[in-house]
Formats: sequence, C-alpha cells, structure tokens
Amino acid sequence: MHNYNHYLNLINEAINDIDYPQQPAHLYEPIAYTMALGGKRVRPVLTLMTCEAMGGDLRQAVNVALGIELFHNFTLLHDDVMDRADVRRGKPTVHRKWDDNVAILSGDAMLTMATQTVSRVDKDILPDLLELFNDTAMKIYEGQQYDMDYENRNDVTVDEYINMIRLKTSVLLGCACKAGALVARTSPENADKVYEMAVNLGIAFQLQDDYLDVWGDPATFGKEIGGDIANNKKTYLLINAIHHAAGNDEKTLKHWLADNTSHKQEKIKAVTALYEDLGLKDLARNAIINYSHKALDLLHEVKMNYDAYKVFESIINQLADRER
Ligand code: IPE
Ligand code: IPE
Ligand code: MG
Ligand code: MG
Ligand code: MG
Repeated sequence: MHNYNHYLNLINEAINDIDYPQQPAHLYEPIAYTMALGGKRVRPVLTLMTCEAMGGDLRQAVNVALGIELFHNFTLLHDDVMDRADVRRGKPTVHRKWDDNVAILSGDAMLTMATQTVSRVDKDILPDLLELFNDTAMKIYEGQQYDMDYENRNDVTVDEYINMIRLKTSVLLGCACKAGALVARTSPENADKVYEMAVNLGIAFQLQDDYLDVWGDPATFGKEIGGDIANNKKTYLLINAIHHAAGNDEKTLKHWLADNTSHKQEKIKAVTALYEDLGLKDLARNAIINYSHKALDLLHEVKMNYDAYKVFESIINQLADRER
C-alpha cells in the first residue's frame, strides 16, 4: 500500500495527460481550467486505494478514477451556477470567469468525458461499473434538487437533511470506493461493505463542508464563507438553529430567513453569531465525529490487509478535521 500523495500523483499525471481539442475554446478552456485548479482529489484517490487494497491492477483503476474526478468537477460547475458561488479553489468559478451558458455546456461535456473515461476498462466489468456510475449520477441529481427545494422550506428535518447529503455527496464517495473494488474483482459482499463505509465517510465529509462554510478560513477553504447562510441552505446548522432558537433568537432568525435580497454580510454575521450562541459548533463537530466513527467501524468489516486498513483509517481521521 502507498500513501495519499502517491495516489494523488497518479491522478494528477492522468489529468495532465488529458488532450483537449483547441476549438471551440469556450467549451474546452473552462474544462482545462477547472481540472487544473486542483482540489483534494479525494474520490479518485479512494478509487485507487480501494483497488490496491483489494489486490487489483492500479493501471486499470486510473481511468475509472479519472472519470470519477471528471464527473465530480462537472457537478461543481453546475453547482456553482445553482448556488451563485463566485469562488472555488481560490479562483473565480467558471460562470463568473465566463458566463452561465459556458458553465452549463462545459459541464455537460465533462459529464460525457467522464462516462467515456470510466468506460475504458476490461469488458467483463463494464456492465457493473456503468450501472454503478449511472445510478450514482441519478442519485446526485436527486440530492441536488432536494438541496435547492429545501432553500424554500423552513421545516426540513435532520433525517431529510441526512438523506439529501447522502444523495448529493456521499454516494459519490461510495461509488469511488466500489468502483475500485470492481476493478479489483473482489466479492460483491466486500464491494458493498466498502461502499457502505464510504457513504458514512461521505456524510461526515458533507457535514464538515457545511461547518467550513461557516467557520472555515477562506484562504484555505478556497470558497467564500457564508454562502450557505446567504442562500438559506438547510444545513445541519440551520436546521438545528431553527429547532433550538427561542425568544429573541427566534425572531432574529426568522427575520434573516425572510431577507434574501440585500445585507448579505450582515446576515452572515448575525446568523453565525446565533449558531455560536446556540452551541452549534460543538453539535456539528459531534455529528461529524459520529459519522466518521461509523465509517471506521464499517472499515473493520471490509476485507483488506492490515497495511491497507491503516491507510484508510488515517484518511478517515484526517478528513474528519480537514480545513480545506
Ligand atoms: C466539494 O467537494 C463538494 C462537496 C461535495 C462538499 P470537495 O471538497 O471534494 O472539493 P475539491 O474537489 O477538493 O475542490
Ligand atoms: C455540493 O454541495 C454537492 C455537489 C456538488 C453535488 P455544496 O454546494 O455544499 O458544495 P460546495 O460547498 O459548493 O463545494
Ligand atoms: Mg455549492
Ligand atoms: Mg450546492
Ligand atoms: Mg458547501
């Protein structure tokens, strides 16, 4: 087994090797721009790690890993249009640097490139892999639609939230691991176990993303702070704030939930202060730790050697208190 950086280098090499056509420039430049901006590459690293941990051929897994990273980046292009987000990975988002139409179409092209790339595997695993990949994509679209619908609802429950983030985020981490397991031709039971482990990791991952959206350092996180608050996103924090705020706090929160137009910075400041007063920082941290522990428990049930187990364990722990 290798460490995170080894797998990261393999992915980055594969990304560097992508040969984009020159024209139309407004289709391909935004794709090259996005892919070159970096990011943690968590999903493709998980694919490669899982494949190696289960005795598979890493060279076969590289295409699958690259396809999954292309897919992830496609979702980000569209997500930034939907969330009106201006900054990602410390740089202007595609719809800001170009425009919405460019972000939509370049995103479409990335989705197709992703499908083409994951399909470059041995024929015997292709049907299972494509089924996993396409089912995952459909779930992500469902999750993204719930995420948008919930902006306009103030009665979203924690269960609805967890289901929404399972769909929009966690299943892609599950897919990343399971795809590596399929390339390694492990047993279906073992592939399902690693999927379940990664789905729990993914829930912790999105909870941490929501936490950093409030308390992250913009320079490290690479995104604007407070975007979720500005958009009334029903995060774990906001749902709990709605549930726990009483008296004046409740009034303040209701006021800001109804204010979607101006005073964005003032709103972010006021709602953040409210979260802090209500002790939601600790509540969120506990939820993150809980889901990370679930992932660690499930990891015990995945068949892999001890060396591989330790690498997965350390990555789960690192992601639980990541700052970017
Ligand atoms: C951002 O994903 C979208 C979420 C699901 C939270 P990442 O946090 O993996 O973003 P990059 O790829 O590292 O930039
Ligand atoms: C992103 O959730 C989920 C997908 C892109 C599918 P967010 O909207 O929280 O992701 P960021 O914070 O913009 O990266
Ligand atoms: Mg977003
Ligand atoms: Mg979003
Ligand atoms: Mg976010």
